Amino acid sequence: MESYSLTNKEQTKADRLKQKEISECGTIPEHIAIIMDGNGRWAKGKGNVRVYGHKAGVDSVRDITEACAQLGVKYLTLYAFSTENWGRPSNEVNALIKLLVHTLRTEADKLHENNIKLSTIGQIERFPNRCQEELLDAIQLTKDNDRMQLCLALSYSGRWDITEAVKKMGEKIKNGELDPEEIDDKLIDEHLSTARIPDPDLIIRTSGEYRLSNFLLWQLAYSELFITNTFWPEFRRDELYQAILSFQLRERRYGKIDKGHTGSFTNKIINHITS
Ligand code: IPE
Ligand code: IPE
Ligand code: MG
Repeated sequence: MESYSLTNKEQTKADRLKQKEISECGTIPEHIAIIMDGNGRWAKGKGNVRVYGHKAGVDSVRDITEACAQLGVKYLTLYAFSTENWGRPSNEVNALIKLLVHTLRTEADKLHENNIKLSTIGQIERFPNRCQEELLDAIQLTKDNDRMQLCLALSYSGRWDITEAVKKMGEKIKNGELDPEEIDDKLIDEHLSTARIPDPDLIIRTSGEYRLSNFLLWQLAYSELFITNTFWPEFRRDELYQAILSFQLRERRYGKIDKGHTGSFTNKIINHITS
C-alpha cells in the first residue's frame, strides 16, 4: 500500500490490519459518494457557532480521503455545498467559501503528493473569482494523478445536473447533430457533469437524515445506502470501514433475482400457483 500524508499521522499497524481485513472480506466499492451532513448541529451541541462545525468537518474530509485512497477506492465524491445552500445566511456562506479557499491552499500539495486527482461538479462559476482560481490551480496541479479521484460537489444539485444535460441534448437536436431516437441511458450519462465517472456503488449520509437532498439523483439509481446518526465532524475511518463491510454483505440485484434461485424452484412455484 502507498504511503499517506494527508492527515500528517503515521498509519497505525492496527489500521493497516483493518484495511487488509476489509480488502479480503469482499469488493472495495469503486466509487463512494458522501453527503457530509450535521456540521451545524454538532457545533451547536458543543455550544459553538455553526462555522466551528464546518471547520471541524475538514478533519473528517482529510481522514476519509486518506483512508479511501489507502483502501483502493477509485472515486470519492463529496457533497460539500448544494445549490440550495446559497439560501443560507450570507455570513455562513462566506465562511464556507473562505474555508474552502483556505483548505485548497493548504491541502492541494498533499493531494498531489498522494497521487490524488481533484475535480469538481456543480456551478463553480457562481463562486467568487479567488475561489474559482484556487480550485482551478488545484485541479491543474493534480490533473494527471491516477490513484484516486476526489470530486467535490460544489454549488451542485441533481436537478441542475439533469437540466443541464437536457439543455445540451436539446441544443444538439436543434443543430441537427442528434436524433431524439438516439437518446438512451448511456447518452444521458454522457451529458451529465459526472460523464466518465462510474455511478456510486455506495452512498453514505451522516447525521441521520433519510433523504438525498438533491444529490446525484440520476447516478444513485442503484447505489447502496448507508445512513448513520453520526454528525460529519465525528465521522472517521472506523465508521467508513463499517459502511464498506455493510456494503460487502449486500446482494446487488439490479432488479433481477438472487443468484440462489434455480429455474426448477421457480417452475414448482408457478405450478403451485396455477394448479
Ligand atoms: C453540512 O452540515 C455541511 C453543508 C451543508 C455545507 P450542515 O451545515 O448542513 O449542518 P446541519 O445539518 O445544519 O447540522
Ligand atoms: C445536504 O445537506 C447538502 C450538503 C451536505 C452539502 P443539507 O443540510 O443542505 O440538506 P437538508 O437541508 O438537510 O436537506
Ligand atoms: Mg444539514
